Amino acid sequence: MNKYIEAYNSKKVSIEEALSVIRPDDEVITSIGPLEPMEIMSRLHTIRDKVNKIKIWNGLNMGVYDFCSKSEMRDNYELRSWFYSAPTRKAQGVGIASYEPGNLHNIFIRKLQEKSPNIFIGTVAPMDKHGYFRFSLSVVYEKECFEAADIVILEVNPNLPQVHGDTEIHISDVDYIVEIDRPLPELPKTKISEVNKKIGENVASLVNDGDTIQLGIGQIPDAVAMSFMSKKDLGIHTEMISNSIVDLVEAGVITGKKKNINKGKIVGTFALGSKRLYDFMDNNPSIRLMRGSYVNDPYVIAQNDNMVSINTALEVDLTGQVCSESIGSLHFSGTGGQNDFSEGAIHSKNGRSIIALHSTAKKGTISTIRPCLSQGAVVTLSRNNIDYIVTEYGIANLKAKTVKERVDSLISIAHPNFREELEKEAIGLSLK
Ligand code: COA
Repeated sequence: MNKYIEAYNSKKVSIEEALSVIRPDDEVITSIGPLEPMEIMSRLHTIRDKVNKIKIWNGLNMGVYDFCSKSEMRDNYELRSWFYSAPTRKAQGVGIASYEPGNLHNIFIRKLQEKSPNIFIGTVAPMDKHGYFRFSLSVVYEKECFEAADIVILEVNPNLPQVHGDTEIHISDVDYIVEIDRPLPELPKTKISEVNKKIGENVASLVNDGDTIQLGIGQIPDAVAMSFMSKKDLGIHTEMISNSIVDLVEAGVITGKKKNINKGKIVGTFALGSKRLYDFMDNNPSIRLMRGSYVNDPYVIAQNDNMVSINTALEVDLTGQVCSESIGSLHFSGTGGQNDFSEGAIHSKNGRSIIALHSTAKKGTISTIRPCLSQGAVVTLSRNNIDYIVTEYGIANLKAKTVKERVDSLISIAHPNFREELEKEAIGLSLK
C-alpha cells in the first residue's frame, strides 16, 4: 500500500474522536466560508461541559451552530470573527460573537505574533497520490494557521474542487482526518435590478480595456461585472472569486494578457459562488489561489498598472469617508480587503479606487450619502483612499478635489429627494 494511504488511514477518526482532543484552554481556528468545517462545528456544543470560554476564531461564517447561536452557551464559547455574515450577526445577538478589526492582508500574521491558536480545523479536497490535499476554495489564512498550530484536524470532502495555487497541505502535517460528504455552501447568482444595471454602466465607464480589476463582496460588484461584457483583455487580481468571473471568462473578456504580475492568471484568495463557479475552478490552470497575505498586500496589488478596485459600501459622508461594515454602531460585516485593495489601487500606475453603492437604503427612505456618517458607524475607508464614488445617478470624482468640491459632487449623485436637505446640512456643518 502507498505509504501516504497508510498514513491517511491511520489518521482517520470519527467527529467525536476529533472533538475529544480539544482541551479546556485551547484556542481553535477554522478555515472559512466554503471551507468551514461544518460537521465538526455543528457538534462543537457537545463538549460544552469540558470547555470554559473556549475561543473559536473564524470569518465569513456559513452555518448556524448550537455552540454560538444559543445564549446558554455564552459561558463556554467565544466566537471571534474578522468578518461577519448572517450567522455571526446572530451569534453577536446572543453575546457569543465579537468582531476583531483588521485589514485582511495582515490580520492573521499580526494575530499569530500575539498568540497563535493551537488547534486548526479545516476542510480540504481529497488527497492525491503524492500525499497532498488542497485547501481548494480558500487560502485566506489557512496555510499560515495550520503551519502555526500544534494540532491539525481536517474534514475531507470529495465535493470540493482541486484548485491550483498555494493551496496544498501534506498528510505529514495532519493529525486527524474526518471523512465527510456534504454539498458545498453556494451563493446564488445576483439578480440584476435596473438600479444595479445603471450603477454597473457608470462603473464600466471608469474601466478601460486592459485594466486589472478587483471585485468586492455584495450584490453590486457582481452586477457591475455584467457591464464589462464588451471590454477586452481585463485581468483579475481580487480577494474573492465570484460567479461573474465565469461569465466574463466565457465571453472572452478576461485574458490577463496586460497584467504586470501573474500574467494570464486569475488571482484570488478565496471563492464563493455557485456550483458552476466551483466546476470552473476545478483543475483549471488559469486560476491561482494564493494566500491573503500575498493577494491582498497593497504592495503586491500596486505592481499591476491600471489596477481598479471596485467595492461597495453601506454609507458615505459628504467628504468621502466610507462605512462598509456597520449600520451605526451595530457590526454588519468587516473591513476584509476593502482597504487593502483601495490602498493598492491608488498606488498602482493609473490605478483607480472605486466605491459603488445605491443612493438610498431601506426602500428609499434614507440616503446612503449623508452629511456625517451615522453615530457609531465605522470608517472602513479613509477619504484619502478613494477616487470615485458611484451611484445610479452618476459618478463623483473625488481625486484631487477640495472638501467643498467633494460635497457638491457627492450631492449631485445623491437621490434627488435628499439633495436639498443635504445642501442645507452641508452649509450648517460648514462643509461649504
Ligand atoms: N443604513 C441602514 N441600513 C442599510 C444601509 C444604510 N445606509 N445600507 C444598506 N443597509 C441595509 C440593507 O437594507 C440590507 O438590509 P436587509 O438585509 O435587511 O435587506 C443590508 O443593510 C445589507 O445591504 P446590502 O446592500 O444588500 O449588502 P451587500 O450584501 O450588498 O453587502 C457590504 C454590502 C458593504 C455590506 C459588503 O460589500 C461588505 O461587507 N463590504 C466590506 C468588505 C469588502 O468590501 N471587502 C472587499 C473585498 S471582498
